[in-house]
Formats: sequence, structure tokens, C-alpha cells
Amino acid sequence: MFLIYINNPCIAALAAENTIAVQSAVKQEKQVSSKSTPTDLVTEADHQVEELIISTLREKYPSHTPVDYNLRFIGEESSAAGVKCELRDDPTWIIDPIDGTCNFVHSFPMVAVSIGFAVKKELELGVIYHCFDGTLYTARKGHGAFCNGVRLQVSKEKDVSKALILTEIAHLLMEVRISPLTRSVRIIGSSTLALCHIASGAAEAYYQYGLHCWDIAAAAVIIREAGGYVIDTTGGPLDLMSRRVVAAGTRQIADYVVKQLQPINYGRDDLT
Ligand code: IPD
Ligand code: CA
Ligand code: CA
Ligand code: CA
Repeated sequence: MFLIYINNPCIAALAAENTIAVQSAVKQEKQVSSKSTPTDLVTEADHQVEELIISTLREKYPSHTPVDYNLRFIGEESSAAGVKCELRDDPTWIIDPIDGTCNFVHSFPMVAVSIGFAVKKELELGVIYHCFDGTLYTARKGHGAFCNGVRLQVSKEKDVSKALILTEIAHLLMEVRISPLTRSVRIIGSSTLALCHIASGAAEAYYQYGLHCWDIAAAAVIIREAGGYVIDTTGGPLDLMSRRVVAAGTRQIADYVVKQLQPINYGRDDLT
């Protein structure tokens, strides 16, 4: 019943609206500060975009708060400010206002707005907007995944020697294990866009320890609807709150990455 109110073009328009905010912020001088570590950056724009998304969603979807539902929001910057980050059964919007903040600070053109939606802890909707090139990725569970309206399909490659692997700078030691048998490895500094590249078939796999639910939620729907796999680094089902993810076009490539990661698998407690 709740889902009949969800309308992809509306959410897309919201992502686009925020993209304009991000694009104009790129040209302005940025107020940069750090959070947990000196390299964990945040700008005024991260806060402004998150506030804009939440207030716009509340305004556009007032019907999302009938008496029997407690509409919830999980956003990176609200969580950093102390709002409890907990996924419950209530319909929940999961928001990364600027994914790739370090790229944004440097005007490195890999920056996205990511909005996911879950009901009863099941991911239902994902929208990711590439702020620099205007590419819009959308998916709704059971209805396929699209890039600017064109249907997405993951890579069907099963041979690891032909696989392009995406990951993050924190995992260079793992690349020593993973990369020799693959074709090559790329790091783009935006987990949501890296995951979109898995959905579009531009790369075969992505993995990271330390991602938050706002990095994965929208992208997981998009990849699954494009025919791909999003699982835990141990090979089990994805737990959105576990901060561990392997995404791949085929189960064979996912299994290869999982196998390579086993000797170095981190538990949740090891993540900062
Ligand atoms: C970060 C980026 C980065 C990933 C980090 C994320 P943020 O998101 O997606 O690629 O390695 O784990 O936190 O902080 O720029 O939204
Ligand atoms: Ca951040
Ligand atoms: Ca992020
Ligand atoms: Ca962010």
C-alpha cells in the first residue's frame, strides 16, 4: 500500500535538484572540516544537501506518515550529528547527500547523490545521480534498473582473468592478493558510482570493508535489478548494516573475490 506513492520520476527530480545544488557548490569556495579522521572530510554542502533531501521528501510524500507508519530517515550527516542510525521495519529513506566528498573537495568529477528506500528492511528503490555528467541510475525492486532510461545489464563475464575489479584505497594490501589473476583494478573514490559501474557492466566486481548503509542501499537495488549480486564479504547474504560488501555481475566472480578475501576478512568490530 505504501509503495503505490513512490514515483521514480519524482525521486529522480529530487536527485537532479540536489545535483544542481552540488554542481553550483563545486564552483564555490568550500568550507571543509573533518570528522573521525583528518581525511574523513565533510563540507557545508554535505549538510545542506542532506537537509534539502529530507525536507523535500517529507514535503513531497506527506502520505508516507499515516498513523500506522513511522517514516524514518537515515542520512550520513544526521548520523554523524548523533541521530541514531538504525534500520527498522518502518519505511526508511537512506541518504548519502554527497558520495565522494573528497572528490567533491578537489573537484574530481566522481561525485553522486544517493537515495535508497527500504520497507521491512527490504530494499525497494534506488536512485543515484552522477553530479558531474548528469547520469541518472534508477531501480525499483521487480521493475528493472535503468541509466537515463536505458535498461542496465551487469557484465556476464565469469572468467576472472578478464575481470576489471573496483575497490578503495584502504584495501591496497588486499589488491596484492586479488589483482594478479584479474585484468586490472580501479579506484574512483565514490563507492556509489563504483557500484553503478557494476550495474552497467563496465566492471565485473567491487568490494569494500567499511561502507555504511547509505553507500550501499540505492546501489544494491540497482545492481540486483540489473541481474547482479550484492553479498557479504564472507559470501553470505548482505547485511546492510554490517559494513561489508562484495558486488559482482556473476556469482563466479563474486565467489572468486569472496575466496580471496577470506584470510583477511574483518569482523564488524574491526571497522572504524
Ligand atoms: C566514501 C566514498 C569512498 C568510500 C568510503 C565512503 P563519502 O563516501 O564512497 O569511495 O571508500 O568508504 O565513506 O564519505 O564520500 O560519502
Ligand atoms: Ca563522508
Ligand atoms: Ca558515501
Ligand atoms: Ca557522503
